[in-house]
Amino acid sequence: MLTLGIETSCDETSVAVIDEKFNILSNVIISQIAIHQAYGGVVPEIAARNHIENILPVLDEALHQANINLEKINQIAATTQPGLPGAVMVGRVFGKSLANALSIPFLPVNHLHGHMASLRLSHSDLQPPMLCLLVSGGHTILYQVNEKWETQLLCTTADDAVGEAFDKVARVLGLAYPGGPKISKTANMNLSFTPILKKFPKSTFSYSGLKTAVLNYINHEKQQGKTLNLAEICANFQFCAIEQLLERTREYLEKTQIKSLGICGGVSANQYLRERFKLMCEEMGVKLYLPIPNLCGDNAAMIAAAGVLGIK
Ligand code: KG4
Ligand code: ZN
Repeated sequence: MLTLGIETSCDETSVAVIDEKFNILSNVIISQIAIHQAYGGVVPEIAARNHIENILPVLDEALHQANINLEKINQIAATTQPGLPGAVMVGRVFGKSLANALSIPFLPVNHLHGHMASLRLSHSDLQPPMLCLLVSGGHTILYQVNEKWETQLLCTTADDAVGEAFDKVARVLGLAYPGGPKISKTANMNLSFTPILKKFPKSTFSYSGLKTAVLNYINHEKQQGKTLNLAEICANFQFCAIEQLLERTREYLEKTQIKSLGICGGVSANQYLRERFKLMCEEMGVKLYLPIPNLCGDNAAMIAAAGVLGIK
């Protein structure tokens, strides 16, 4: 039983083939980062046009790497929401048309459920119930997931997403898009500093206050004619960004008494986040699941996996 996955919701064009045991036969990803870097962020219209250019060659390469032809595919899963409307439409229409032409089922997949499924692809022993922290460029959500992979939203952001805050702070510091990896490389966590924000709202995430506090600090330093200490600013921002995720997740782990935690989405690649959550989970007796590095960002294998799991 082979599932073809398609992902085009933002700036990655990806096609993958997985089997019913969640083995990845291929997971081809073409990133448009280099194209959008010139604009400091993703330009929706350019993203959609590039998906149209890329989708057929990426499909061919995914079939080639899996060593199969189209007739071997049993079902097609594609991201149908959320995402940049023009971009997500390319994969959605392409996948649905292909499924129709082959007379096989089409599985519409929520991109966020795809990130969640990256955890199952990375860990064959993963079996909910669990809490799942989704941290990406567009979302910061804590879900409760039951045995049937049904999700209940516990907590989301009142304003910006955590990845978005990384990207915006990086932009002001002159670090290239996407800002997350750059900030994480630049930050020196061994420096001592006073956290720029000490209190976070209860029972919700919020990143606009932290972003503004960092931007105000940067402007203030510049006005005083001081040279910015990038290693320290990045460390301070990263500390506060992750501290809030830890605090909220701890609150809901205690409330629900659930003993498994999954973290997924682009920001789950962050090394400092991984270290801090590992320590907290050890201390709380909670089992921690993280995606393998190449499944943290957007990819089609996770979309195929969400289709197979039927996450609702
Ligand atoms: O999941 P993803 O690839 O796309 C969305 O669905 O949004 O997440 C992209 C986000 C970007 O904001 C990027 O800056 C952030 O993930 N990111 C990171 C790291 N790698 C990617 N943030 C912090 N540290 C990282 N190492
Ligand atoms: Zn994503």
